[in-house]
Amino acid sequence: MSTVKIRELTKQYGHAQVLRGINLDIKDGQFVVLVGPSGCGKSTLLRMIAGLEEVSSGHIAINERIVNDLPPKERDIAMVFQNYALYPHMTVRDNMAFSLKLRHFPPAEINARVEQVAASLGLTPLLSRYPRQLSGGQRQRVAMGRSVVRQPQVFLFDEPLSNLDAKLRVQMRSEIKQLHQRLHTTTVYVTHDQVEAMTMGDLVVVMRDGVIEQAGDPLSLYDCPANQFVASFLGSPAMNFLPGILQNEGSEIRFADGSSCALHDSRPTRNGGPVVFGIRPEHLHLAASGIPANVLVVEPTGSEMIVMLETTANAGNPLCMVLRQRHHLKPGERIFVQPQTGCEHLFESGSGTRISETQNHFAH
Ligand SMILES: Nc1ncnc2c1ncn2[C@@H]1O[C@H](COP(=O)(O)OP(=O)(O)OP(=O)(O)O)[C@@H](O)[C@H]1O
Ligand SMILES: [Mg+2]
Repeated sequence: MSTVKIRELTKQYGHAQVLRGINLDIKDGQFVVLVGPSGCGKSTLLRMIAGLEEVSSGHIAINERIVNDLPPKERDIAMVFQNYALYPHMTVRDNMAFSLKLRHFPPAEINARVEQVAASLGLTPLLSRYPRQLSGGQRQRVAMGRSVVRQPQVFLFDEPLSNLDAKLRVQMRSEIKQLHQRLHTTTVYVTHDQVEAMTMGDLVVVMRDGVIEQAGDPLSLYDCPANQFVASFLGSPAMNFLPGILQNEGSEIRFADGSSCALHDSRPTRNGGPVVFGIRPEHLHLAASGIPANVLVVEPTGSEMIVMLETTANAGNPLCMVLRQRHHLKPGERIFVQPQTGCEHLFESGSGTRISETQNHFAH
C-alpha cells in the first residue's frame, strides 16, 4: 500500500518560482507520467518526492505520512535516472546486489532477490558481465533491476529511456510497463515524450511553467483536452487550430475564408463570439465541399498519408490531415476538406480554455 499525496507544493530557487501550487493524488499501484516541455518542473517535482530537493511550501505525504523533512534514504523510494551510472568495476550481479549489501541484508536473501529480478528482466545470462560489455538497453535494464531488488514503496523514473535509440525505446517502454503489471509498485515516470506518456501512464499529468494543466487517463486527455496547450501537446501530428466566429445560435462556425462548418450540439449557444476551432488531423476528411484547400505536401508513411494543406481559412498555418486510405493527391491540387462532425474541440479565443460543454462523441 503506497500512495503519494501532494498538496499546494511550491518550489523556489532564489526569485525563480519553479513549481506553483501542485496538487496531485497518486493511488496505490498507479503508474503516473509527468509530461511537459523542457523546464516546466517535472524533474524538480520528482526530486522533491525523492527528497533530493527541499520543499519551499506545501507538503508531500507518502502513505499518509508527511515526508517534507525526511531524508531520501528513509522514504523507501527508488529512483532511476537518464544517466544510470552503473559501477563500471562491478559485474551486473554486484551492481544489482550493491544497495542490499549496504543495507546489510543476509547474503542468501541478496542472492535470491538478484536471481529472481535478473530472471524477470532477462538478465540471467549477463550476471557475470561488466557494464562495458552490455548494450545500452541491457544497461538500462540493469539500472532498473538495481532498483527493483530493493522492493521500494515507490519507483521514480526521470527520462530513463532518452539515451536509447528509437527502436530500443519502444521495446524498453513495453518492458517497463510489463514490469509494472507484474509488481504493481506505485510509479512516477517523467518524460517529455507525449507518446511515452500516452502509452505508459494510467494517469497522465500535463505540466507547463510549474503548474499542472490537466491530469487524467490518457484517452480522456486526448479526447477532451481542458485547453489549447494540452490539445496541442498530446497527439502527433498535432491538432489543427482555426480561428472562427460562432453563428446561427452557435450551431455553426464561420472561418476567415467565409466557409463554415456545422457544430455538434454540445457547444454553448452564443452568436458572434470569436472562438478557436480545434480538429485533429485524423478527423479531417476529403469531401465534395467544405473548407477549400491546396495540397502542399503529401507524406506517405505506409500505414497512412499525412497531407499538409494551405487554406485561406487559416492563412499562414498549414492544416494537417491524416488519411488512412491511399488517395492519389498531388501537390498543388485543389480539394475540399470536411471536419468529422462531433469531433471538433472549441476553445475560448485568447485564454485557450475549452468551451465545448460535454465530451465530444468520437467515432472510435
Ligand atoms: N538548482 C537549480 N537552481 C536554479 N534553478 C533551477 C535549478 N534546478 C532547476 N532549475 C530551474 O527550474 C526549472 C524546472 O527545471 P526542471 O529540471 O524541473 O525541468 P524539467 O521539466 O525536468 O525539464 P527537462 O525536460 O528539460 O528535463 C527550469 O527553469 C530550471 O532552469
Ligand atoms: Mg528533467
